[in-house]
Amino acid sequence: MPVLRTIRERFAAERPLDGLTIAACLHVTAETANLVRTLIAGGADVALCASNPLSTQDGVAAALVAEHGAEVHARRGEDVDTYVSHIAAIVDRGPQLTMDDGADVISFLHARGGPALDAVIGGTEDTTSGAIRVHALEEEGRLAFPVLALARARVSQLVETRHGTGQSALDGILRATNTLLAGRTLAVYGYGPCGQGIARRAQGLGAAVVVCEVDPVRALEARLDGYTVLPGVEAAARSDVLVTATGASDVVADEHVAVMRDGAILANAGHFDVEISVGALRAAATASRQARPLVEQFDLSGGRRVNLLAEGRVVNLAAAEGHPAPVMDIAFAVEALAIAHLADAATTLEPALHEVPAAISDEVARLALTAVGVEIDHLSDEQRRYLTSWA
Ligand SMILES: NC(=O)c1ccc[n+]([C@@H]2O[C@H](COP(=O)([O-])OP(=O)(O)OC[C@H]3O[C@@H](n4cnc5c(N)ncnc54)[C@H](O)[C@@H]3O)[C@@H](O)[C@H]2O)c1
Repeated sequence: MPVLRTIRERFAAERPLDGLTIAACLHVTAETANLVRTLIAGGADVALCASNPLSTQDGVAAALVAEHGAEVHARRGEDVDTYVSHIAAIVDRGPQLTMDDGADVISFLHARGGPALDAVIGGTEDTTSGAIRVHALEEEGRLAFPVLALARARVSQLVETRHGTGQSALDGILRATNTLLAGRTLAVYGYGPCGQGIARRAQGLGAAVVVCEVDPVRALEARLDGYTVLPGVEAAARSDVLVTATGASDVVADEHVAVMRDGAILANAGHFDVEISVGALRAAATASRQARPLVEQFDLSGGRRVNLLAEGRVVNLAAAEGHPAPVMDIAFAVEALAIAHLADAATTLEPALHEVPAAISDEVARLALTAVGVEIDHLSDEQRRYLTSWA
């Protein structure tokens, strides 16, 4: 992770987080460990818990405590009560800054209120679904501190959501099932950056890709990108693999279950495990079994059997290893610079969901290019004048 390493060296010299406590609720993986090391190098006291009970790498959690001085509350496969108690434990540290991937810490703090909430000056939110929850707090007039929406940063949308999720979601599906995608039909529900990445990769592996959307512009985009666009139920009836990437709930529900093909594979790449209605599957099934690790197979009417991956949880983390390190290098470089920006400027920001300053995206992209030895051109003074002149 050369970009983050550069930032870690800069942080060690400049100590932008000196004296601050950060409560971070992130996937506890090796890549996150490098972010935590960067924050500690910048002077922060870091308490970390998991943002998903299935994504924790226990060895990483232990190493962060033993070798790097972080406080970690996470164990792979922890139950819901333990998961919540771990969030409470990092909130009890009295952080000034929060880091979320799904807004669980922010929600917890706002539900509880009191001095812990008052002490927070700002936070970051990694994912689109988390930003939706933060936005809901803002709409109710209850958001107590500024939050930077990291997934909206230009460089993150490109690298993390489109390329990272595109590759790793398919990686999860292939690891869990060992299926062949060539010649099969794969339906993607949602054509945001996430769905776009999955569609492009699946097509590259030889699948015929169908896109389902509710936004007419995105549906048109999918059509112009060369995919078949169909309503969700029709796509379910025609597809061998169904992947949700919408952020919405019950995207695959009773009516889809009723028509799915024998052998169909169901996977979710959206943040929360609400996109595939597991309840609808259970209600329609006459029997179910664990067909392979992370694959539950349901017997449905007409002798059909369909396969649900990772209980409908986010497939690239539950069945694979999340985004590869080069992707998280970019994402966490943005996160590290964003939290340093908040440490410096949070008190000047309204309690609202904010964009990451464009300068941070540019800086991270510049460092990423430098790391791989790529040089680019720069505008001349004359060109800059031309581009900014009304005349
Ligand atoms: N797995 C990962 O590693 C990963 C990475 C980034 C984002 N995400 C998650 O993936 C989801 C999508 O992210 P995004 O950035 O592409 O979001 P986005 O909001 O840009 O795109 C989602 C798309 O889904 C469409 N949609 C909503 N409801 C639908 C429905 N019922 N049927 C069909 N389409 C529907 C929307 O119109 C939108 O175009 C979010 O939950 C996000 O948090 C996951």
